[in-house]
Amino acid sequence: MPSGIRIAAALGLAEYFSDNDKIVVILGDNIIERNICAAVESFRAQKEGARILLKEVSDPQRFGVPVFADEKIVRVDEKPSAPASNYAVIGIYMYDHRVFDFIKTLKPSERGELEITDVNNFYIREGKIAWDILDGWWTDAGTFDSLQYASNMVAKTGANKL
Ligand code: G1P
Repeated sequence: MPSGIRIAAALGLAEYFSDNDKIVVILGDNIIERNICAAVESFRAQKEGARILLKEVSDPQRFGVPVFADEKIVRVDEKPSAPASNYAVIGIYMYDHRVFDFIKTLKPSERGELEITDVNNFYIREGKIAWDILDGWWTDAGTFDSLQYASNMVAKTGANKL
């Protein structure tokens, strides 16, 4: 998508289809080894708010990075040059229907985008975000290197399961 549109704006287009219900958002370039069933069940049981998934990574500066204080997430920084933790917020997000109101108030970031991280920060400020650590490997496939990594991991994991 052209810069200036992307994730949060694309999600905004799903308002009609969400039918005022909770939604799960999965970025198309996020590849996971296992599944998100347990997290989705937890979110189903969650009365309101949001739920995000975290994964420990060696290059957090490429991602949204959670900042922890007393074991709570107090903020997510988008692609920080000095990451506050070694976790990435992966591109699988769960939101209640208020996400669409939050999106309407977003302003473009310095890179000219409506940031999904700003949406997550809305919920964090309200104290209504929960999170899980993703089980199994995760990668995004948005660069040539990560696409190759994803392909190799799929091939390797598939081979291990034969
Ligand atoms: C996007 C989000 C980022 C998240 C990542 C996961 O990054 O902005 O917070 O960690 O997806 O794949 P981008 O696709 O802009 O690099």
